[in-house]
Amino acid sequence: MKEAIEKHWSADAGSYNKSIQKMLHSEETKRPWKSIFTQVLGTDNLHLLDVGTGPGTVAFMLAELGYRVTGVDFSEKMLSNAIRNNEILGLDVNFKKGDAENLPFADEAFDAVVSRYVLWTVTDPRKAIMEWKRVLKPGGKVIIIDGNWNGNKTTLKKQIWHELSLLMTLITERRNPYTHEYGPELKKGLWCIGTKRPDADKIFLEEEGFVDIYIIKEVDTRRQTFLEYLKNGYLDKSFLISGTKA
Ligand SMILES: C[S@@+](CC[C@H](N)C(=O)[O-])C[C@H]1O[C@@H](n2cnc3c(N)ncnc32)[C@H](O)[C@@H]1O
Repeated sequence: MKEAIEKHWSADAGSYNKSIQKMLHSEETKRPWKSIFTQVLGTDNLHLLDVGTGPGTVAFMLAELGYRVTGVDFSEKMLSNAIRNNEILGLDVNFKKGDAENLPFADEAFDAVVSRYVLWTVTDPRKAIMEWKRVLKPGGKVIIIDGNWNGNKTTLKKQIWHELSLLMTLITERRNPYTHEYGPELKKGLWCIGTKRPDADKIFLEEEGFVDIYIIKEVDTRRQTFLEYLKNGYLDKSFLISGTKA
């Protein structure tokens, strides 16, 4: 399963990198995200780990906020785009290849672990959270941003909107959005299908002994044009959940 997931993301790396370019270069798009990160992380000079960094989307926003950032991902293709983006943006993020469930870092190496749009697709979310806790210093925070998108296409209206959205992306962004979609085999193996989140995430964090659990049920970061609304409006908003290592 993990190998198939890695293959999927490597095949999608070019298209995914294209899809986040606006975010990397538009201060207006980054501003609401940066404000949330500052709200949750504070302004101290922290060393952060971005798990499942992809082309570096979140890692770069955190670096621009002044944090020292390391990004980890198991897809080499994603990482080579991240390294190129790092050069273009003139930032100093350190990227490393590694598995979210078996991180290549020492115990207590980071002040906080951030992960956006990744936990839904790991093979064992409990193992991942245990591993994220291992690399955190005591008092450090884990911050998970994710969504319930896999249960999103339940009504006919949403299914049709989803199909039209793929077509609009193909035409307006000239990238293949179909590489982004999991096939039925991969979908079947996802732990999050039929699971209520962030309720499940809260249980994972509590079971791992995290304290001061904080949840934003709907992260409001969309500053979208009408076209972007047509493409993404059927999707639920992301949630954020954080916890502190006791
Ligand atoms: C939807 S992308 C999110 C990328 C980035 N965090 C963002 O917010 O744009 C998911 C990323 O997680 C990575 N990923 C998925 N499972 C992983 C695992 N077990 N270990 C490391 N990376 C993983 C994929 O390679 C991909 O780059």
